[in-house]
Amino acid sequence: MKTFVIANWKMNPSSSAKAEFLFNSIKDGLENIEKLGKKTEIVICPPFPYLSIISNIYNPCLPSPEAKATGGQVKSNIKLGAQNCFWEDPPAGGGSFTGEISLLMLKDLGCKYVIIGHSERRMFLNETDRIINKKIRAVLAKRIEPILCVGENRKDKEQGKTQTVLRKQIENGLKRISKSDVKKIIFAYEPLWAIGSGRPCSPDEAQVIRLFFKKVISQKYFRSIADEINILYGGSVDSSNAKSFIEEAGFQGVLVGGSSLKPKEFIELVKNI
Ligand code: 13P
Repeated sequence: MKTFVIANWKMNPSSSAKAEFLFNSIKDGLENIEKLGKKTEIVICPPFPYLSIISNIYNPCLPSPEAKATGGQVKSNIKLGAQNCFWEDPPAGGGSFTGEISLLMLKDLGCKYVIIGHSERRMFLNETDRIINKKIRAVLAKRIEPILCVGENRKDKEQGKTQTVLRKQIENGLKRISKSDVKKIIFAYEPLWAIGSGRPCSPDEAQVIRLFFKKVISQKYFRSIADEINILYGGSVDSSNAKSFIEEAGFQGVLVGGSSLKPKEFIELVKNI
C-alpha cells in the first residue's frame, strides 16, 4: 500500500508569488530525499487560484510533452489536489453555478485528488452529509480520487458521541457508492479538537478510531473491502509525530495543515515517515 502525505494549504499563502515560492521550496527539498520511493505519494492541495500557477510550473499530474509523445506519465511523487469542488458539469448539468469550480476544470489542471467534506467547510459553509455525498459521487464519476474528511468536535467527544458522529458521517457520505468505487476513496480522520490546536490525538486513541472506520466499512460492504481502504490521520501533524500515526496507529498516511506551509518542516516530516 502507498503512504500518503497530503498538504492542505487551506486559505494560504497570501499571494501567488508566495505560493510559487512555497511550492518550489517543497519540490526542491523533496527531490533531494533519496529514500522517497514510489510508495510515498505527496499531494499538494493549494487554494484554487494557485492551482493553475503550480500546474503551469510543474504540471505534476498531466503528461509532460515528452511523456505525451510516448503515451507515458510524468514520474513524480508529487501530485496536485484541490480542496473542494462542485458536483455539476455546466452546461449539461442544467443550470448556472456562480462562484463554483467544476471537476472538469480541476482535471484540466492536472488534479488527481480532491478533499471533500473538510470540517471547516462543514462548519463555516454548512456543507451537509448530503452535499458531501453528491460531491464524492461526482468526483468518482470523473475518475478523480476523493479524500473524504470526517471527525468529531470536542463536545461530541466529551459526551461520548465520537463513534456515533463518525458512523453517521461515514455512512451518509457513502450512500449509493458501489463496492468498487468505495475502494477509491481515501478516508481522513480529522478530529476537530486536534486541528490547529498543537495537540494531536494520541496514536493509541487514533488507532481505535481507525479500526472503527474499518468496522463501519465492513458492515456496509465487506471485510475484504475494508482491508483495502486507505485511512489517513489529520490534526496537528508535524515532523515529530507523523511517523507515529503511520507506524504505531497503522494509518496509510497523514493530512497536514499548518506544517505544510513551512517548507523545512514539511520536508522533515516527509523524511521522518
Ligand atoms: P493542522 O495540521 O493545521 O492541524 O490542520 C489539519 C487539517 O485540517 C488538514 O486538513
